[in-house]
Amino acid sequence: MAIKTVPTQPFNDQKPGTSGLRKKVTVFQKPHYLENFVQSIFDSLQGYKGQTLVVGGDGRYYNRQAIQIILKMAAASGFGRVMVGQFGILSTPATSCIIRKYNTFGGIILSASHNPGGPDGDFGIKYNISNGGPAPEKVTDAIYASSQSLNSYKILEAPDVDLDKLGESKLDNMVVEVIDCVADYAELMESLFDFNSIRKLLTNGHFRMCMDSLHAVTGSYAHNIFEERLGAPKNTVINGTPLEDFGGGHPDPNLVYAHQLVEILFGENAPDFGAASDGDGDRNMILGRHFFVTPSDSLAILAANAKLVPGYSSGLTGIARSMPTSQAPDRVAAQLGIECYETPTGWKFFGNLLDADKATLCGEESFGTGSNHIREKDGLWAVLFWLNILAVRQQSVEEIVKEHWQTYGRNYYSRHDYEEVASDRANTLIENLRSAMPSLKGKQFGSSQVEYSDDFSYTDPIDGSISQKQGVRIGFTDGSRIVFRLSGTGTQGATVRIYLESYEPDPAKHNLDPQDALGNLIAIADEIAQIHTLTGMEKPTVIT
Ligand code: G1P
Ligand code: ZN
Repeated sequence: MAIKTVPTQPFNDQKPGTSGLRKKVTVFQKPHYLENFVQSIFDSLQGYKGQTLVVGGDGRYYNRQAIQIILKMAAASGFGRVMVGQFGILSTPATSCIIRKYNTFGGIILSASHNPGGPDGDFGIKYNISNGGPAPEKVTDAIYASSQSLNSYKILEAPDVDLDKLGESKLDNMVVEVIDCVADYAELMESLFDFNSIRKLLTNGHFRMCMDSLHAVTGSYAHNIFEERLGAPKNTVINGTPLEDFGGGHPDPNLVYAHQLVEILFGENAPDFGAASDGDGDRNMILGRHFFVTPSDSLAILAANAKLVPGYSSGLTGIARSMPTSQAPDRVAAQLGIECYETPTGWKFFGNLLDADKATLCGEESFGTGSNHIREKDGLWAVLFWLNILAVRQQSVEEIVKEHWQTYGRNYYSRHDYEEVASDRANTLIENLRSAMPSLKGKQFGSSQVEYSDDFSYTDPIDGSISQKQGVRIGFTDGSRIVFRLSGTGTQGATVRIYLESYEPDPAKHNLDPQDALGNLIAIADEIAQIHTLTGMEKPTVIT
């Protein structure tokens, strides 16, 4: 088999965002586009010759073609072995699990997470390092730098590998091992959670759950774990067949896009527990009967109940949350006498804290929760954690959340997204806020007074690296906050995200609709940032 060196020219838009490189499928299909980025990844790495790479994706359109290209390029660059998920499938958490379990050099994940798929949808590629986590900024910066000076790439001329058949084959000198995409991950889950208690709960004849895989990657995992290993009835998992276009849906587990599940859980004769996960299986949404658990509360509740779960019964070393996530977990950390770290948005910032054992649980308001068991957020892990708590406490989701608020107070929280805003308008909005920052301190808006205003900057406590301009924060003297930032994962125009939070200690006031409880802050956010005027939009595209 011959190795071909193909001349190419740099693309100037290959800078990885919050989570890898995400573009329209049609962009990735441009001649050399994917190949350039893959070569840039390999060129930025050192010492990988003869080593093992893990490759898999969420099964979206272009997944299989991309995997064939990557396999042939990995062989041409001198990798010794590639472990690839059967049918090209590996969820993001399963990839992280496999990298760690088999001590591989790294992994490539093909996904645009919760973004829609199909020929007109999105595609993405992300490199994970040997700890199983997303490449940190110094690596993604190096990848981008390589992409900007690239003039050729190497690819093996060879027939496609059969991705459907388990077992080993060879591409030139490199071994390709097609692996079961579920087994290693399911075993890890069995080692963390009390499967016997969860099985009892799921088969006791009255508890019912519904898991919505949104036609995305967790279908394969959820059928195996909930229905086969834990004995839940066959119809427990809905939309459980991974499809290349996610059935035309938007595989994002929130109240807007997981509407079928929401209708079931808020309908008549609703099940006790509902959950959904996203395109690549790292996000989760948790619902009780007629009840929604905000992701920030979910993290706080998992932390407060961790001692009930075998994998965490010896206690937590710390908690970490992204800056825009509500401060509910901070209250649990204070009570447990452990640290709560505040990091910029994006899972890559948790890696160092987890490696140094400074944090055990991590989470983001964007439906991401996880722990030190891998180095990615993990949707089904969060679902199993909740089931384990429900099995031990024998209470409803609503009761558990409300008791939590009684103990710690309630952090009312909401995120408003304005999607597909023209980039120049979105940039103006953020620039205006940055210029207004110095004059905001002490300013009165109705009954709220600004205590501080800054652009969040983070110094990693382990390696000292500094990440600046991570979101404009406006804090008020009563503890409430507004945060503004631009999305780093969108592929069309810009998305402005506005995060709103206020704290209510009084249990008599815990039953408000968050949009009402946060009404004042929502109005202040518009007054300060002129959101409606600048975006030309009446209301947010998505409220979570
Ligand atoms: C979004 C979320 C962020 C998450 C990322 C990847 O990034 O806000 O918390 O880590 O997706 O799932 P953003 O589009 O805001 O940059
Ligand atoms: Zn995802």
